[in-house]
Amino acid sequence: MKTLKHIFDRNAQWAANIEKNDPGFFDTLSKQQAPEYLWIGCSDSRVPANQIVDLPPGEVFVHRNIANLVVHTDLNCLSVIQYAVDVLKVRHIIVCGHYGCGGIRAALEKPEHGLIDNWLRHIRDVVRFNEDRLSGLNPEQQADVLCELNVIEQVANVCNTTVVQKAWENGSVLSVHGWIYNIGNGILKDLDTTITCPDDIIRC
Ligand code: CO
Repeated sequence: MKTLKHIFDRNAQWAANIEKNDPGFFDTLSKQQAPEYLWIGCSDSRVPANQIVDLPPGEVFVHRNIANLVVHTDLNCLSVIQYAVDVLKVRHIIVCGHYGCGGIRAALEKPEHGLIDNWLRHIRDVVRFNEDRLSGLNPEQQADVLCELNVIEQVANVCNTTVVQKAWENGSVLSVHGWIYNIGNGILKDLDTTITCPDDIIRC
């Protein structure tokens, strides 16, 4: 199958439905994007950013990778953050993890997954930083708690980027949030780790 026609059919139907409910929607949106949110989430197919917060195209700038990591030297993620903060002027950066994350589970196993084990090293660092919190838990609890701890760690990483530090220095109003999504019931939870200024970073 060279063309995946069923996908194009769905796309045409989707665009027609939106245009029917909101005539001129795409024309207006094509002239500018002004999203208030940058979403940094997992690539997992069960965690589609716009859909789970029920926001239409144009509302969320999105970066996704395996296990929603913000790696200090990842130019891809850093460029997304810079564009979102400096050009789009988003007000909120959301790091959203999810329970049942395959990346987190794999990081708790022996490293035998090939290339991806190099990426998962960053999660193993989070394990090492939090050995006290994780010891004594059964494997299922460990995975759930690590999903949360990983989000908290990535929130700190976002806050420590030069881009976010500079934005705060320049007086920009910018909050960084840590959320977790339950793929079992579709519900989001705020991990109460929101950072709004450099002084807050110490808390996490
Ligand atoms: Co995941």
